[in-house]
Amino acid sequence: MKRAVILINAYSRLKSSLNQSQRLKAELEKRGVKTDILPNDFFAAAIEGNGIVSRLSGYDFCVYIDKDKYISHMLERAGMRLFNSADAIEKCDDKMTTFIELSGHKIPMPKTLPGLLCYDEGEPVKKSALDIAERELGYPMIVKACYGSLGKGVYKADGRTELEGICAQLKCQPHLFQKYISESRGRDMRVIVVGGRCVAAMVRSSDSDFRSNIELGGHGTAIDPPEEIKDIVLHAAAALGLDYCGADVLFGKDGYLLCEVNSNAFFGGIESVTKVNVGGLYADHMCRQIYGK
Ligand SMILES: Nc1ncnc2c1ncn2[C@@H]1O[C@H](COP(=O)(O)OP(=O)(O)O)[C@@H](O)[C@H]1O
Ligand SMILES: [Mg+2]
Repeated sequence: MKRAVILINAYSRLKSSLNQSQRLKAELEKRGVKTDILPNDFFAAAIEGNGIVSRLSGYDFCVYIDKDKYISHMLERAGMRLFNSADAIEKCDDKMTTFIELSGHKIPMPKTLPGLLCYDEGEPVKKSALDIAERELGYPMIVKACYGSLGKGVYKADGRTELEGICAQLKCQPHLFQKYISESRGRDMRVIVVGGRCVAAMVRSSDSDFRSNIELGGHGTAIDPPEEIKDIVLHAAAALGLDYCGADVLFGKDGYLLCEVNSNAFFGGIESVTKVNVGGLYADHMCRQIYGK
């Protein structure tokens, strides 16, 4: 019998995360793959003796709807095929790491400076570093927590006082400084890539926020993305080794710019905007990879 397991983060109460796993289960089962959804809280793998032992047996593959990197790497070392791979998820999880990985691939990205990591909450923010950031990027300036999602860790500083406030809050966690792409205010494109193909795309726009995330009030309109955008996102997905992703692209003055790549992009919103069965296409891709059809 064909069998798959979907691992979901045990702490997450997000409806979109639950919905994602249920949709994928339904699509896999339509293709004859008996699928279990399990919260990732049972130590699916352990270091034992001199190796790794997996406690997941009888599954042909695992859909990893979590970003927790220890278990994903351990499961792979124990021989499990993960969608996406542990490496790809890890590279996307940290926005700065994503940019570093994509550098040299001819993928246009906004000018970005890596934030300085501070190890002591009591230390004041390094003013000298902010001087450079403001000289190189100007205001408004974007500051992002590298591990943020759903728009929550993305800030816009309109001046020095605001920048210092944001940095005081972020200094002890990985973060980055980025040029604000003003032409893209409240607007970007979300493109879904499955198995090396752009399968769905929408323009997201918000009237109330510089961030276009649907979760913050942005609304989506289906589009057929221009070749230039397809080129950017397909290159990015390939460079990061992703089976599946949702890439965000900004509208720059001189062309499109890659904003971020989500290895675990929720597809509920884009499915209802574009009427594309993203879950079904992803299930097709996984079945082709594992069973050859
Ligand atoms: N450099 C930027 N210039 C203008 N807008 C930006 C920039 N970076 C992000 N945004 C806006 O903020 C949103 C959220 O940023 P993103 O990096 O995608 O983080 P998240 O993972 O939280 O979605 C983007 O979809 C875009 O609308
Ligand atoms: Mg985003």
